[in-house]
Amino acid sequence: MKIGIDQLHVYTPSLYLDLKDLAKARQVDPDKYTIGIGQDRMGINPITQDTVSMAANAAFPLINARNASEIDMIILATESGTDYSKSGATYLHDLLAIQPFARAIEVKQACYSGTAGIMMAYDYVSNHPDRKVLVVASDIARYGLGTAGEVTQGAGAVAMIISQNPRVLTLNNDSVPYTFHNFDFWRPNYAKNALVDGKYSNQAYIDAFQKTWHEHQRRHHTTLDALAAVCFHLPYSKMGKKALTTILDEESDTTNRLLTRYEKSVQYTRQIGNIYTGSLYLGFASLLDLDESLNAGETIGFFSYGSGSVAEFFTGELVENYRHHLYTSDHEKMLSQRYPLTIEEYETTFLESLPEDGSSVALSHPQDKAVIQLAAMDQHRRIYQIYDKVEQ
Ligand code: CAA
Repeated sequence: MKIGIDQLHVYTPSLYLDLKDLAKARQVDPDKYTIGIGQDRMGINPITQDTVSMAANAAFPLINARNASEIDMIILATESGTDYSKSGATYLHDLLAIQPFARAIEVKQACYSGTAGIMMAYDYVSNHPDRKVLVVASDIARYGLGTAGEVTQGAGAVAMIISQNPRVLTLNNDSVPYTFHNFDFWRPNYAKNALVDGKYSNQAYIDAFQKTWHEHQRRHHTTLDALAAVCFHLPYSKMGKKALTTILDEESDTTNRLLTRYEKSVQYTRQIGNIYTGSLYLGFASLLDLDESLNAGETIGFFSYGSGSVAEFFTGELVENYRHHLYTSDHEKMLSQRYPLTIEEYETTFLESLPEDGSSVALSHPQDKAVIQLAAMDQHRRIYQIYDKVEQ
């Protein structure tokens, strides 16, 4: 049975900061951000977008009356969730009008958990071939104003439907997971921003990539020649390349192909930043949307990494006519119609917070045109609103 990604759709909020402006404000050479780190803009969420609303906006175009009755499970992968107890997936279930006899859960393991969700979905569909699973990875990456990680912040979500006979990518059921307890990046429950050992995190990422890649080669006789492209978890666009180049020959057709396609896979991340759990799949969407040289039947490698740490290397095969099922023009439109913030607006937005004392507040933002928004807080409850589709 063929199981995999039937559809995927990306959402990022309507605000961004140009990283040249950030460089100027932090008195850093802009080339460090745009070349050294490889980021151009960072997506910023207004107060009306949190991990739940972003996830709902990512999933909204994928859901119709038919598949809402076929989805048995909603898995929300996030490390910036809104509640210790109530999963964000329960809101998604309601906002997307999924049939009632479904599971709705949230999963966590730093940036890796989107992949955990996909693998759980794969197993579920294997046992229930006529049913579907909605996996949504949604996050807001926060390191803090003036920190080294600030330039690698971002916000967004990727929604995927996992089914049999998928229309985009068949998963090859060959995944190699790897767990290694460390403190490269983490966020204690009392902290609003992540703690990170930046240089060590880069090394931990590369080590996990090499371990999973070599084990994949050993178990499945995988070769680089057999891969049309490799998609990486992208905390910033240079990171995957640092790992990839450790296993490439200096010069060969394979090296050229993988490096050329790597550049296609990082274009959305360059514009949006790190979206943690969704970042690997943001890279995949970027590759699919922007690389016209890929062909159905070709094999894509995927490297997932979540600090702390869990990693996984797996492959999938592009399905015949996959291009007909992409949301390329939606993604292009969404990215081209965002509103640029000044540094002052960015810092104000970053420091804004929701009431924590149970008071009632109605929320709105003039630049938020999303279909689903966090519209109010009342007695510690988040209230979301579905607006009529507003042309952005
Ligand atoms: N022109 C061009 N390049 C320049 C430059 C200039 N003027 N100035 C510096 N650079 C280059 C540097 O040479 C360096 O390149 P290499 O990495 O190739 O050596 C690059 O810019 C970055 O410079 P620094 O290492 O000096 O940067 P930094 O110390 O300020 O911080 C960082 C970089 C560690 C990535 C930091 O942004 C950070 O902590 N980010 C968050 C953590 C992170 O993303 N880790 C990744 C792995 S962990 C993971 O993947 C999970 C996750 O999502 C968090």
